[in-house]
Order: sequence, then C-alpha cells, then structure tokens
Amino acid sequence: MDVRIRAAEPRDAHAMARVHVDSSRTAYAGIVSSEFLEDLSYREAELRCHSVIGNSTRKTFVAETHAGEVVGLAGGGPEQEHDPTDRGELFLIYVLAGYQRQGVGRCLVSAVAREVQADGFRSMLVWTFRDLHGARRFYESLGGELVESGTVAIGGRDVAEVCYGWRNISDLSELR
Ligand SMILES: CC(C)(COP(=O)(O)OP(=O)(O)OC[C@H]1O[C@@H](n2cnc3c(N)ncnc32)[C@H](O)[C@@H]1OP(=O)(O)O)[C@@H](O)C(=O)NCCC(=O)NCCS
Repeated sequence: MDVRIRAAEPRDAHAMARVHVDSSRTAYAGIVSSEFLEDLSYREAELRCHSVIGNSTRKTFVAETHAGEVVGLAGGGPEQEHDPTDRGELFLIYVLAGYQRQGVGRCLVSAVAREVQADGFRSMLVWTFRDLHGARRFYESLGGELVESGTVAIGGRDVAEVCYGWRNISDLSELR
C-alpha cells in the first residue's frame, strides 16, 4: 500500500479519532465489553488525539493515502509505567480495517522506532490484549518477544494483556 507516513498535526485529530474508534470497535469486539465499545466517543477520542499530538515527550504519526485520507496512526516515546530513562514504548497503533495487511502497520512501527532511537533508547516495548491475536502475530512478525503479562481494568472488567519487547530496535527502525 502506497501511503505516506508523517508526523501528526492538530488538523489530523478528527481523522485520527475516526481511525482509533472504528478500528477499536472492530478489533476489540469479544475482548472488551460491548457496552464500553458502544460508548466510545469520536469527540472524546478527538480531544485525546489533540493532547497526544501536543505532548512534547511523545511523537505521533499518521499514515495518509495519496488522496489525503488518514488510514492509520501510531505513537511512541519513553516508557510510561516504569523508568522513563530505560526503554521506549509504542503506545498506540491503529490501521483502519480496510487497509490492514498491506504493510501500513510495519511502516508506522518503523517511524516510531526511529523516533524512539533518536531519543536515545535501544529497546522498546508494547502492551496488547492477550486475546488480540492479529496484533500479537503482527508484533511477532516484527521480531517482538513476549516479555510480560498482566491485566488491565477496562469498562469495569479485567482484561488480560501481554507485553512484547525488542531488545534492539535498530532493525525495526530500518523497515520500509
Ligand atoms: C495490528 C495492526 C496495527 C497491524 O497493522 P497492519 O497494517 O495490518 O500490518 P502489516 O500489514 O504491516 O503486517 C505486517 C505483518 O504482520 C503480520 N500480521 C499483521 N496482521 C496480522 C493478522 N491479523 N494475523 C496474522 N498476522 C498478521 C503478518 O506477518 C504481516 O505480514 P504479511 O501481511 O506480509 O503476512 C492492525 O491490524 C490494526 O490496527 N489492528 C487493529 C487495532 C490493533 O489491534 N492495534 C494494536 C493494539 S496494541
């Protein structure tokens, strides 16, 4: 898929919210409660996208088609849970259902890895749901190793999650 990966700008927040909400609803069905997914709001997602774009320690990217449609987004920066000087973290990655399996996700991860590397980190991690098999196969295909597991409370329900790590992100950052 011929898409351009570029840094997200405030004007992208509306389109990013659409990608975020629509692909969450499709991908998380059966993993996260249906009430939680129904309650997702484009407006709130747009506000969150605005604050992520304005966050100086994180970098967010969008994947844009030649027609100017935003079909994917990803963001990364210093790991938020533990020692922020230790590792980088891929915080979010979403590709619209109709654009998946065309290499967009791989290009987005590469852009984030380059940024994380430029911030001085050699390694990176990402948390995902244990039962989100497509995302797990995706991280595994990029050389991610299963390093941790846990649970996270979402919509009043504990959801199992797993963490993938890359010890050395130099290969990831060179993916095209
Ligand atoms: C996970 C996601 C970001 C991957 O993006 P993508 O653009 O579809 O991935 P790519 O096309 O770059 O895939 C690269 C490789 O990953 C693997 N892969 C990706 N999705 C896969 C799937 N659903 N099942 C099995 N393997 C998969 C394949 O090896 C693929 O290479 P191939 O298509 O040549 O076989 C995308 O599917 C998505 O947004 N899913 C919904 C939201 C989500 O799960 N986000 C992650 C939350 S942590």
